[in-house]
Amino acid sequence: MTIEVLKPIKKGTYNNNIANYEAVLPDFSWKEVERQFSWHRTGKVNMAYECIDRHVEDGYGEKTALHYINGKEEVKLTFAEMKEKTDLLAAALRKEGVKKGDIVFIFLPKNPECYIAMIAAVKIGAIAGPLFEAFMEEAVRDRIADCDGKYIITDAELAKRVPKNDLPSLKKILVTAEPEFCGNREISLNELLRNTRLEDQPTEWVDLEDGLNIHYTSGSTGKPKGIVHAHRAMIQQYQTGKWVLDLQENDIYWCTAHPGWVTGTVYAIFAPWLNRSTIVVNGGRFDADSWYSVIEKAGVTVWYSAPTAFRMLKAEGDDTRKKYDLTSLRHILSVGEPLNPEVIHWGINTLGVRIHDTWWMTETGAQLIVNFPSEVIKPGSMGRPFPGIEVGILSEDGVQQQAGNIGHLAIKAPWPAIMKEVWKNKEKYHSYFQFGDWYLSGDLAYQDEEGYVFFQGRSDDMINSSGERIGPFEVESKLIEHEAVAEAGVIGKPDPIRGEIVKAFIVLNKGYTDEPALIEEIRKFVRYKLSAHAAPREIEVLEELPKTKISGKILRRELKVREQGK
Ligand code: PRX
Repeated sequence: MTIEVLKPIKKGTYNNNIANYEAVLPDFSWKEVERQFSWHRTGKVNMAYECIDRHVEDGYGEKTALHYINGKEEVKLTFAEMKEKTDLLAAALRKEGVKKGDIVFIFLPKNPECYIAMIAAVKIGAIAGPLFEAFMEEAVRDRIADCDGKYIITDAELAKRVPKNDLPSLKKILVTAEPEFCGNREISLNELLRNTRLEDQPTEWVDLEDGLNIHYTSGSTGKPKGIVHAHRAMIQQYQTGKWVLDLQENDIYWCTAHPGWVTGTVYAIFAPWLNRSTIVVNGGRFDADSWYSVIEKAGVTVWYSAPTAFRMLKAEGDDTRKKYDLTSLRHILSVGEPLNPEVIHWGINTLGVRIHDTWWMTETGAQLIVNFPSEVIKPGSMGRPFPGIEVGILSEDGVQQQAGNIGHLAIKAPWPAIMKEVWKNKEKYHSYFQFGDWYLSGDLAYQDEEGYVFFQGRSDDMINSSGERIGPFEVESKLIEHEAVAEAGVIGKPDPIRGEIVKAFIVLNKGYTDEPALIEEIRKFVRYKLSAHAAPREIEVLEELPKTKISGKILRRELKVREQGK
């Protein structure tokens, strides 16, 4: 099979931070990267300091740090303003009792408060726990309960989905609103900030190994697990921001992910701010017109998004796109799901730029397999290992495979951004390491002679819809809570736009019949109890579900085969 090769496109003032991949490989060392950080000289470590305060001290206080666009509303904050706002919120959080190592959940839409809260929590040494804004009460409860979360910052609207009575650990609910809009047990953050004075030393100096952020992520079994990262992740987040995002002083950078997903924290906040870039934050939901207008309005130069979004924009057609001036774009990247070659060609033909695929996971804390702007792209491949990263393709017995053979995609641990732990779950952490220090990703892939990695699917039942990771168990558990549902089996069904959609097969309890109104009610039950992104788009009623003979476990694989056979 001949593989198509796409050469780099030079456009305008294109200027790569990494000119030649092969040339940097022999001498690359993470230790050298550490020299970029102030703690290398001072010994004082904190991600928030490196993202914001340091740039103010270096004389970049007037540079725009954040440009928020939500329809007609626009807000710009400089690095100096970000420092002041995060210093004040940090002091307020301290006043409310937040201590180093406490988890502070942040349940806000993509707006300036959300980004200020993330940095302020980190500044005082707390572990920031961003929650996706589409989570409903149960998803919020599961996460707070799992790690005995004590604090949550939210807004008046989302506060309605924060359980008030059955979470004994939850001490304080801080709401970004005036007191008259705060409900029972809610504290007005506006009032609190008015009554807080800046502290002389807002930053808590931490250890590189101290907790930085927690993201709950799904697998094929059980409820979502809390993946905790440490401040040392900044080493890799900085360097990938520089070489893969290719960030330079005048870039306007937009990553479309919400901080509740790992990309929205690592590559929408940490990596660009470590590189002193201006970030763009878009409010509201996906809509082709508003997305294109964000690029035009902000003059976005570097753009990081996901295949589903690109496919939606492609499907929208040329007429919408042609209404906007998108010529500022010089570098585009993608993550989260397989990037189809057609989408890369669409990028070249319509935007004049290649789309660079990247691969990583919540657990890995930063990009590991990437395409560089200066290197050849092979459409269908996720790229090559970042310098300092060793990729292995392993057989079922953990034996490394030759080029061209499909196996389990594994990475030699450690690397700077690898997770610190799975919250209160050592067993889960160890399950990633069945073959010594090889971290097992759960993905299947092969590598070609030149080291390019080609994604071949998952080795488990995890669902990837629009780049969002959904565990079938969570959805099945919610479905059977509905009085009409006796049993449920949930799979990912291939979908041309979303990659996969969530499809549920259910068996109804006696007395219920397969009618559209009931099916819609069951769908909404999951949507409003758990989360919109996890609600099945399709539900099919069966007489019985395929199960293993001995243990009676639902055979999701058979449901998949059945679906594919249609
Ligand atoms: O299956 C892979 C898929 O997304 C999984 C990780 O999901 P999550 O932890 O939510 O992180 C997503 C973004 C960092 C992986 O195990 N995935 C991620 N990137 C790609 C991908 N699948 C194909 N191509 C990619 N570039």
